[in-house]
Amino acid sequence: MDTATSATHEPLVECLFAHARRLSAGRIDGLFVDPARADAWTIDAAGLCFDHSKQLLDAPARDALLALAHARALPARIEDLFRGGTVNPTEGRAALHTALRDPDDDVACVDGRPVGPEIRATLTRLREVVDDVLDGRWRGHGGARITDVVNLGIGGSHLGPQLVVDALRYVHTGAVRVHFVSNVDGGDIDRVLCQLDPATTLFIVASKSFTTPETALNALSAQAWILAHFAADTRAIAAHFFAITAHPQRAVEFGIARDKVLPMWDWVGGRYSLWSAIGLPIALAIGYPGFMALLAGARAMDAHFRSAPLAHNAPVMLALCGLWNTNFLGAGTHAIVPYDERLRLLPDYLQQLEMESNGKRVTLDAEAVPLGTAPVVWGGIGTNVQHAFFQMLHQGTRLVPVDFMLALRHPRAVQGHHDMLVANCFAQSEALMVGRTREALRAAGADPTLAIHREQPGNQPSNTIVMDELTPATLGALLALYEHKTFVQGVLWQINSFDQWGVELGKQLAAKLLDELAAGHPGIHDGSTTRLMERYLARRSGVRDRPI
Ligand code: F6P
Repeated sequence: MDTATSATHEPLVECLFAHARRLSAGRIDGLFVDPARADAWTIDAAGLCFDHSKQLLDAPARDALLALAHARALPARIEDLFRGGTVNPTEGRAALHTALRDPDDDVACVDGRPVGPEIRATLTRLREVVDDVLDGRWRGHGGARITDVVNLGIGGSHLGPQLVVDALRYVHTGAVRVHFVSNVDGGDIDRVLCQLDPATTLFIVASKSFTTPETALNALSAQAWILAHFAADTRAIAAHFFAITAHPQRAVEFGIARDKVLPMWDWVGGRYSLWSAIGLPIALAIGYPGFMALLAGARAMDAHFRSAPLAHNAPVMLALCGLWNTNFLGAGTHAIVPYDERLRLLPDYLQQLEMESNGKRVTLDAEAVPLGTAPVVWGGIGTNVQHAFFQMLHQGTRLVPVDFMLALRHPRAVQGHHDMLVANCFAQSEALMVGRTREALRAAGADPTLAIHREQPGNQPSNTIVMDELTPATLGALLALYEHKTFVQGVLWQINSFDQWGVELGKQLAAKLLDELAAGHPGIHDGSTTRLMERYLARRSGVRDRPI
């Protein structure tokens, strides 16, 4: 296991490197000589049980991490977040996703104005839309009831809603089917529309900016599909399109009726927006009361985050464990492994949340960040991944911290399946920690020449997050847990977790290349890009103009 070397002269950081060197000489399982460790390193919050006892961390190292958190004024920064302070200074914005799940709160303000009234008004309107669609009052242009809803959005306007709709599949009302199209790859919209009837399909164009090219092109293709069905009668657009955006005028200019637009706001970050009207597909899938339960679960985690002492605060300790592994033990990645089919989209969602938020290299004071920031977040569901990448975790050369997740009860699984799932989840975290030595293998009668090949070093750290059941409330709490983890890490790294300037350049270049494709010849580029463009231009004939 590599221990990172110091890259800063800050005494608190130096002290943490010293703890890392000390602890790296020992083993995680050795820390369990303390019989109280499992209890002491488990935090119950908002229906979740967060066990971080299988980390290579002891009380002195944890205290040093907490000292760093205090030195970064974490408690004050948490209050700032909840009250609507400008936690996103490069864009001059608050990040009030917590206010979205606490609509009765009138303390959170932006520019001195409480945001509660706008949130409540939007929720009232969202509820009306949901009731109209689910009760069959919303009719297609030809008078047919809506049976299918397609969300057109990408990034934060897609990943969160898609994850929640998929994860809560057992509590869908069944009144409508909800689908998602995000990729500009025409195969994505084609895959969804080929199974649907335009007469009974409602599109939601979800885009905070309403300028995202992928979403705009998918919306144009969807419009063309509707108009083709209704003999180019543009009145059909009002019956088949709804928009959610912080720029309603842009949606209207696009052709969506003004009363078919729900607002969101600049003070909600895209990747933190599933709690806003961007959550409309969720409310359509599980009903408005289910959506409220999701918000309530997140609100319970918010209350815990805001009030629990840092050492007993689940998001804070989750963040500090991650920081410890990344910055002081040298891990470059972080694996997310839910033992639950319903959470199969969680790694994708957390990739955007953590990597778009904290994939930064400059501090708020415009200095180079002295320590590494966001690790690569990746993962997959158990038990499948045990037969894929777990070999590398058990015997590879890299430190790979893992977060395991599990619901103790499952609404559909027969007991034999669930017992086996649970046994595997717990077995993997144990095996990653304890490993097995060649001496133990030999003592157990293994072929001595193979013992070295079968040896597993162990000492791989993991967290285990369990909940009694996966419900809208516990899912809300789980997502809020990771949102706050991300925020805490950003505070400790002294970066802005709420901007994403790094995505700009690629977007600009894509627009330029698109113009060049339209013109039929590449502009001035590096040799590689020019050759690739030429190759594409020489071979692109035969592509359909619209996916459908
Ligand atoms: O990837 C950049 C980004 O701006 C994300 O932050 C955002 O979630 C996504 O694009 C979609 O943006 P919009 O909701 O404005 O279409």
